[in-house]
Amino acid sequence: MNRKLLTLLLAAGIAVIFVTTGLYAGTDVPDTITMDYNQYKKRTKKPPKTKFIEFAHKKHNVEYKISCGECHHDKDNKPLDLKEGDAVQKCVECHTKLAKAKKKKGEKKKKKDIMVLENAFHGNCIDCHKEVNIKAGDPKGRKGPAPTSCAKCHIKIKK
Ligand code: HEC
Ligand code: HEC
Ligand code: HEC
Ligand code: HEC
Repeated sequence: MNRKLLTLLLAAGIAVIFVTTGLYAGTDVPDTITMDYNQYKKRTKKPPKTKFIEFAHKKHNVEYKISCGECHHDKDNKPLDLKEGDAVQKCVECHTKLAKAKKKKGEKKKKKDIMVLENAFHGNCIDCHKEVNIKAGDPKGRKGPAPTSCAKCHIKIKK
């Protein structure tokens, strides 16, 4: 299929998802969130190989004492001072790029584009987890109480 057409179809598909799921700013603070953005990336007919863990949203705030603004920010990347009941936008409303840019032949490694949804999530979750683990004693931040390895967040679906 030609590239332009594919982009168009993808855009149309996303528009449909936005309308049908009513993607507006949510106000209910969820206890857990199953973040599966595979639905935005339906480009193959193959079933997904992994599913996402349940993200302990409330626990991060209450038990781990992380303020809302460490994860939620405004259009200028300024931390939001939120309370329960406030309208909150989903990450995908601004981090709208759903695929990483492909590296061109002979090109040096691309700088991470934070507006790519996947990079935004990884930048938020994994960067903090690394810091947590460094503080807990692992100099590289990979081992410790906060998960940084792929399979701890993306669980393999058994056949
Ligand atoms: C550790 C990070 C983190 C903390 C802390 C956090 N959130 Fe969230 N929150 C998220 C993520 C990630 C999502 C899912 C966003 C998405 O699906 O794009 C979310 C979703 C939400 C949603 C639902 C949005 C929707 O449309 O479905 C609301 C409302 C919300 N958070 C409010 C809050 C409030 C209020 C606080 C503080 C009391 C808070 N959050 C603390 C990361 C966090
Ligand atoms: C209202 C728009 C908007 C929303 C909603 C939004 N972001 Fe962002 N985000 C931005 C902008 C703009 C930047 C800055 C981009 C830049 O510096 O080039 C940014 C930057 C980031 C960065 C880099 C932080 C840094 O300082 O280096 C991360 C990580 C990130 N966002 C994650 C998230 C996550 C996770 C969510 C959902 C919980 C989210 N964003 C929701 C607009 C948004
Ligand atoms: C600002 C810091 C911070 C951010 C951002 C953050 N986490 Fe965490 N996370 C923690 C801490 C602290 C722990 C608890 C470590 C421990 O057990 O002492 C944790 C633990 C976890 C755990 C294992 C235990 C549990 O409660 O489920 C998972 C899974 C997890 N985080 C997923 C995520 C995901 C997914 C995101 C991004 C949407 C995220 N975290 C963002 C700090 C953070
Ligand atoms: C702390 C949790 C965490 C870890 C560790 C993590 N990711 Fe993710 N990843 C996320 C979140 C949150 C999303 C956005 C939700 C989704 O789409 O599943 C995401 C999305 C993705 C996506 C795009 C969306 C999709 O489902 O196709 C890919 C690809 C991905 N991650 C690969 C990896 C790889 C490879 C690693 C290991 C190097 C890794 N992730 C480690 C949290 C994590």
